[in-house]
Amino acid sequence: IRAIGSHGQTIRHQPTGPHPFSIQLGDPSRITELTGITTVADFRRRDMAAGGEGAPLAPAFHRAFFGSASEDRCILNLGGIANISWLPAGDASPVMGFDTGPANALMDAWCHSHTGRPYDENGELAREGSVDVGLLEDMLSDAYFLREPPKSTGKEKFNLEWITTVLKRHPDVSAQDVQRTLLALTAESIARQLPESHSLTIYACGGGTQNPLLMQELAKACVPHRVCTTRELGLDPQWVEPAAFAWLARQTLDGLPGNTPSVTGAAGPRILGAIYQP
Ligand SMILES: Nc1ncnc2c1ncn2[C@@H]1O[C@H](COP(=O)(O)OP(=O)(O)O)[C@@H](O)[C@H]1O
Ligand SMILES: [Mg+2]
Repeated sequence: IRAIGSHGQTIRHQPTGPHPFSIQLGDPSRITELTGITTVADFRRRDMAAGGEGAPLAPAFHRAFFGSASEDRCILNLGGIANISWLPAGDASPVMGFDTGPANALMDAWCHSHTGRPYDENGELAREGSVDVGLLEDMLSDAYFLREPPKSTGKEKFNLEWITTVLKRHPDVSAQDVQRTLLALTAESIARQLPESHSLTIYACGGGTQNPLLMQELAKACVPHRVCTTRELGLDPQWVEPAAFAWLARQTLDGLPGNTPSVTGAAGPRILGAIYQP
């Protein structure tokens, strides 16, 4: 093992405003100390210092690893937040990518507040309800979904408070229907922000791929495009994010840029992160 690329756990990410910042848990000094292995961490802040959103960072890796000469592809990461990387066939145009909004964050928050469970396993609670179309359209009218990229977001915005604020206008929707509607919101907000393409394939990754109801709803919402997972490209959907940060760590050690200015809005390519030597 030449190095560990440690993204850490994002607890706050505020890319806009007078004092942009992004904070991750996971002390790289201690990782180096405990493992005796060079650790690369703090990947977001250099991009932000250069005026970028500091997120998403995976698109450069997605392009390098998943780009195709013949097929338009979207890599769709379904973590707490959903982000897409748009990889048009060939490599002429710059990579596009942005956060579409919530993937699991809102479903997790609602499920936790109603059942105490951290997430709605296999969409079981959502299956007990049905989509409330009025509530769904109200949620989809949030300005974030309509904003042009570059854009990134986090749980500072899409959280339980966001849900309860919208629900004040829809007081009679049952907990199960809210859960089901939040799942539809994830699928629909992604589908509405997909790039124009005649033949696009969407390769999903991240924890949300473990939720069969979400994958089913996503496939329906994205018609005529095909939705599958990165397994078809040879990488387990749960490995994509770890692999991205291993790749970014290598970029740093090789003195190569890791950000994608066309995605983050940074002033230019930058070598990301800090190196902690054993
Ligand atoms: N079996 C499952 N059923 C439903 N949701 C799941 C399942 N497994 C994982 N998830 C979802 O995936 C999320 C974790 O995804 P992950 O990609 O690790 O997120 P992040 O990188 O943002 O922390 C969980 O919070 C949960 O919502
Ligand atoms: Mg993730």
